[in-house]
Amino acid sequence: MPSSSLLEIRGWIHDASAILVMTGAGISADSGVPTFRGAGGLWRQHRPEELATAEAFARDPALVWAWYDWRRSLISGCAPNAAHQALVALEERCPRFLLATQNVDGLHGLAGSRDVIELHGAIFTTRCQRCGASREDRSFSRAAPPRCAACGGPERPGVVWFGESLPVGAMERAADAALTSDLTLIIGTSGVVYPAAGLAELAHRAGKRVVIVNLDPIEQVGFADGFLQGRAADVVPALVD
Ligand code: OAD
Repeated sequence: MPSSSLLEIRGWIHDASAILVMTGAGISADSGVPTFRGAGGLWRQHRPEELATAEAFARDPALVWAWYDWRRSLISGCAPNAAHQALVALEERCPRFLLATQNVDGLHGLAGSRDVIELHGAIFTTRCQRCGASREDRSFSRAAPPRCAACGGPERPGVVWFGESLPVGAMERAADAALTSDLTLIIGTSGVVYPAAGLAELAHRAGKRVVIVNLDPIEQVGFADGFLQGRAADVVPALVD
């Protein structure tokens, strides 16, 4: 377990001229968005393969759509928290900064972060399964998936499901930042879903600093240079401000 203090890690962040931040569901937990794993996690109550795969959507589009609708309605009532906001401030003052998130909730953008890679897509978008057209969709409480205005084809949530590729270029950009940034900050992710989880190790192997913020000592803490245990909304502002 790394023993670097908050003060020391603040110094690393202050001195870094290039930073990659990677976030997961834990950063939005303090905004009221449920995580996937752990106590109260969505995957405790549902089987991922019944809701978050293309096969599940083909089998029962109404069920999968209803689940995403429910999450859209829930997230609509959530606001960015102090951790999202602290990352906006960090982006403003760090010369080369990239934020990669596994979250589909859009809270980083809402907080004001400018350069955000949404590795797993965005829950407030839909994509036509026939022509591929993508559009913003903030509505919820519809019984069935909508149809594409352009071609009439069936639309699906604009998220990445298990077994699918990440958006073109997204992982490449994040990986390049992991290799070339002075420091990679990993916030609120269990670090078990690849390829996103591989960013921490990539940075570490390139000899770059890795700092983890999490409620729990996740496995990747084993090779990290710094680990701060606590709620993202408390720890991230303390690290950055
Ligand atoms: P998880 O639900 O797997 O993990 C959330 C992590 O956040 C855990 O390690 C918690 O300990 C930590 N955590 C919870 N509350 C926190 C808080 N207030 N402050 C700091 N940390 C906290 O979420 P992800 O790692 O984001 O993918 O999950 C990765 C992917 O698995 C998701 O993007 C989603 C899911 O299936 C897809 O849907 C493709």
